[in-house]
Amino acid sequence: MGVVDDYLRRHEAKDLLRFITCGSVDDGKSTLIGRLLHDSKRLLDDQVSALERDSRRHGTQGEDIDFALLVDGLAAEREQGITIDVAYRFFDTDKRKFIVADCPGHEQYTRNMATGASTADLAVVLVDARKGLLPQTRRHTYIVSLLGIRHVVLAVNKMDLAGFDRALFERIAAEYRALAASLGIADVACIPLSALRGDNLLEASPRMPWYDGPSLLQHLETVRVDRAAADIGFRLPVQWVCRPDQDFRGFAGTIASGTVAPGDAVAVLPSGQRSRIARIVTADGDLAQAGAGQAVVVTLADEIDASRGDVIAAAARPPEIADQFAAHVLWMGDRPLLPGRPYWLRIGTRTVGAQVTEIKHRVDVDTQEQLAAKSLALNEVGYCNLYLDQAVPFEAYADSRALGAFILVDRHDNATVGAGTIDFALRRAGNIHWQHLDVDKAARARIKHQRPRCLWFTGLSGAGKSTIANLVEKRLTALGRHTYVLDGDNIRHGLNKDLGFTDADRVENIRRVAEVARLMVDAGLIVLVSFISPFRAERRMARALFAEGEFLEVHVDTPLAVAEARDAKGLYAKARAGELRNFTGIDSPYEAPEAAEVVLDTVAEAPEALAERLVALLLAD
Ligand code: ADX
Repeated sequence: MGVVDDYLRRHEAKDLLRFITCGSVDDGKSTLIGRLLHDSKRLLDDQVSALERDSRRHGTQGEDIDFALLVDGLAAEREQGITIDVAYRFFDTDKRKFIVADCPGHEQYTRNMATGASTADLAVVLVDARKGLLPQTRRHTYIVSLLGIRHVVLAVNKMDLAGFDRALFERIAAEYRALAASLGIADVACIPLSALRGDNLLEASPRMPWYDGPSLLQHLETVRVDRAAADIGFRLPVQWVCRPDQDFRGFAGTIASGTVAPGDAVAVLPSGQRSRIARIVTADGDLAQAGAGQAVVVTLADEIDASRGDVIAAAARPPEIADQFAAHVLWMGDRPLLPGRPYWLRIGTRTVGAQVTEIKHRVDVDTQEQLAAKSLALNEVGYCNLYLDQAVPFEAYADSRALGAFILVDRHDNATVGAGTIDFALRRAGNIHWQHLDVDKAARARIKHQRPRCLWFTGLSGAGKSTIANLVEKRLTALGRHTYVLDGDNIRHGLNKDLGFTDADRVENIRRVAEVARLMVDAGLIVLVSFISPFRAERRMARALFAEGEFLEVHVDTPLAVAEARDAKGLYAKARAGELRNFTGIDSPYEAPEAAEVVLDTVAEAPEALAERLVALLLAD
């Protein structure tokens, strides 16, 4: 955010309003932003001349400048390869300076909006007077409320095309006020305007004498925003440790809340170690005090180990620490969120492993209705329980946006797939401790004279997984090895008999069997797992439960056509006839391994030979 910092530094003295605009190009959003920027005379001159040139070439407004081009032209470039597409624009008037987060308004771009909204004080929601409130108006307003924005302006645009009709405006305004009230948004201003013609944009319009409120810009200049994020005390999420030489160790980051001064007692979380602030260092010298929003480097009086992701906080009022939360999650992934699937969770400057353990309900963002759900699709919002691999310092989102908001990241391609706001911590697991046992895996392995292993067979139904696993077990047993086969069909008769074949159920199926396999390896066994396990994410999750070298992924690589031709159980025929749904390879995907330890080609070789190869591999060490 170098540009943002730059801008703020230049206009330090003036009050700042951060706002977001929601709506689509059709509603006139680009025109509105373009005109605000242009008419407040703060556009750089060369930007204006480029705009005039472009307008003459591509514009839709004759000789007038097409303000929409200013915004959309940039959007096209930015869209390439960037997941979150938000443009920040800066302008100022004599009274205030502004940062506008402009997010493309297309239906699918809810995630961009959420990104822009997460730092905004106010939202301008645009509607076309002729169309009134649309489902997307409701959706945007819901997200605005979810992300804690307390001030909203409903800009009823294109009044010129609606005959400056007062009754129409008032109907839309009343409907919107009811919506906002139902979402708990306290401050709503409704303004009739024409972005294109400039009515009520900067000055009161003579063409709507019946409206006696402020113009949009007057409102933005004067609205009192209540940033009363609860006073939670000093919080500095550590972004990096600054260690230029042996004698200096500073912790760098942006202060999320509160103020700090040398001498203040602090705690470093989650470790809980205590110390005092020694210095507050900046490029322009040491500070006697610093506060929320400032980027600083602090040093501590004691040699304390803090690293990226830790939070330095007021010792008297430290944030809570927890590894389970109830939270709203807005899903942005193209593939659905599935409970039990592992993701990365980034909160503050910290990244940890996380799973959604339960979707309590989904919220219909158009109607705010609560619905039952087993997964969340793109742009859906759910109220979820989350479980993290490690406890993290946090705040409820209502108290702190910096430490109460998180994103979920796909472990495979590092794409941002979800954004969430923490409601409260779930404490149950806090009372469960890990019981230490004296007999361990090594001891159990020793008396069995073997190296415990998990051989994970994956492949299509009918690929030959169970046939080969059975042969391997027979041979190992004959050699005096202690083994166990966990077979998909068999486990689905007992432990997993409550599960079917939806994506969500398959994720849970694999989670459970992976945990069982881990216990069996811990018991000292050589475990053979024979499950289709069609998803890479869950196989990766299974692998992560084991020590290095303990987990061997065996891809039983049989082409669909071959498995289908064999059809030992007659299931492919049923699936083709439409009698069996979600059948792997037919109407449910199989994601082949990318780097399995072993690939078995069942077309080229017989099961006996393949089994022998695996036995040799296991006995090699
Ligand atoms: S997994 O996908 O969740 O790993 P699992 O290995 O437990 O599947 O179970 C697969 C077995 O269930 C198959 O070998 C087959 O006998 C049976 N089965 C029944 N319905 C299906 C289905 N829709 N898709 C795949 N296998 C099915």
